[in-house]
Amino acid sequence: MNNDGRILICGGNELNGSVCVNGSKNAILPLLSTTLLAEGTHTFTNVPDISDVGGFLEVLQCYGLKFFWDKSKKKITVINEGVNEEDVPPDIAKKTRVSVIALGPLLSVRGHVKLPYPGGCGIGNRPIDLHLKAMSKMGASIFISNNYIHAICKESRGAVIDFILNTVTGTQNVISAAVLSKGTTTLTNAALEPEIVDQINYLIKMGAKIRGKGSRILVIDGVSKLKASTYRVMPDRVEAATLAIAIAGVGGNVVVKNLDPAYIQSVLLRLEACGVHVERGKDFFKIKSAGQFDASNITTLPYPRFPTDAQAQFMAIMCKAKGVSIIEETIFENRFQQVPELQRMGADITVKGSIAVVRGGKSLSGAEVGSTDIRAAASLIIAGLMAEGETVVNNLHYLDRGYDQLDVKFKSLGADIIRE
Ligand code: EPU
Repeated sequence: MNNDGRILICGGNELNGSVCVNGSKNAILPLLSTTLLAEGTHTFTNVPDISDVGGFLEVLQCYGLKFFWDKSKKKITVINEGVNEEDVPPDIAKKTRVSVIALGPLLSVRGHVKLPYPGGCGIGNRPIDLHLKAMSKMGASIFISNNYIHAICKESRGAVIDFILNTVTGTQNVISAAVLSKGTTTLTNAALEPEIVDQINYLIKMGAKIRGKGSRILVIDGVSKLKASTYRVMPDRVEAATLAIAIAGVGGNVVVKNLDPAYIQSVLLRLEACGVHVERGKDFFKIKSAGQFDASNITTLPYPRFPTDAQAQFMAIMCKAKGVSIIEETIFENRFQQVPELQRMGADITVKGSIAVVRGGKSLSGAEVGSTDIRAAASLIIAGLMAEGETVVNNLHYLDRGYDQLDVKFKSLGADIIRE
């Protein structure tokens, strides 16, 4: 259980000072997938040092791309001298389920892909039926055998695609398949997440013709060639939400810099509803909290509503809030995995299907807990920062997939936290 290190926290210290948000995990991954679309040197700055990035770079390497990652400068250079005809070995593809976002670019640049079916992960079944149906509409023949997706596409062509629900990586796959396809693709009911706009902004810089960015209807006219360029990755709104929730829960006075607070408006409004003071600037926000606040209900929904990626963190602080909070998770079937661990710390939570009832007003006490996904790990760290006594958080490889130095940031704000 402990082979990837552990975090020790002595709870109770207020958080004060200022902290900067890193570049976004869910933006850099689709940006890296677009490097398959154009030969040349792609440069990304503001890249977070997280293991999901390393995992996806390994996938790109299997397709013949080279990369240099200067972690001190938060910069990645990807050199595409032509995509090869190889498949990704299963051990590499399975390391990161996000390898599925290579599907769209590969079908349009080389016409064939064989990938292990990504399947579910800890948080839910995570089907990709909508990705596959969209690729079929764009001309691909797809069959699944022995848990592998085989897709072949002689010529990727524009299509009219209507998603029955909002899928983030599904939208990203359609966009990157469409930019080099023959003709026009119209995608309705596209997801609105800001990371999709970030991907579109880079593609437009590369020469793609995309209309409707940030809306539910995207119209993409295929072009014959794209050129590699440079791009600064957008800030990580989930990291910002995690920090905001932690400061509200623990108490203190902190300025969180480098992010337009509009990206996390749904989270900040919930914190205000709990009685926490929030001040918004152009590219920063301030949270002032006495560490005492009211309970509030949330329902997770696609952007711009309350994000599933901040649900576990919000639940942690509701354990302490005055009153009862109803938390409804509508995106993933199994995203309450933090609950048994929070219960171990003294939380009073009952789960029935997609609803969790959190009876607040409990003072949490330190315990040894294990994280089960990226956001559950952050939730347990927040619980540890609020708890009386010592908390040990294990299974840090989940945290490392998506957070760059979260413990160091909390330490700089005054938390008694150390990673072993
Ligand atoms: N869905 C389908 N069929 C599909 C695709 C999705 O039924 O073909 C369903 C899913 O089962 C889910 C819903 O649609 O119920 C939304 O899933 P979506 O496809 O939007 O999720 P994703 O693209 O796999 C991204 C993020 C997740 C984030 C979700 C929701 C990346 C790399 N991942 O996943 O991030 O939770 O959108 O916002 O962008 C995280 O960062 O911790 C994380 C899990």
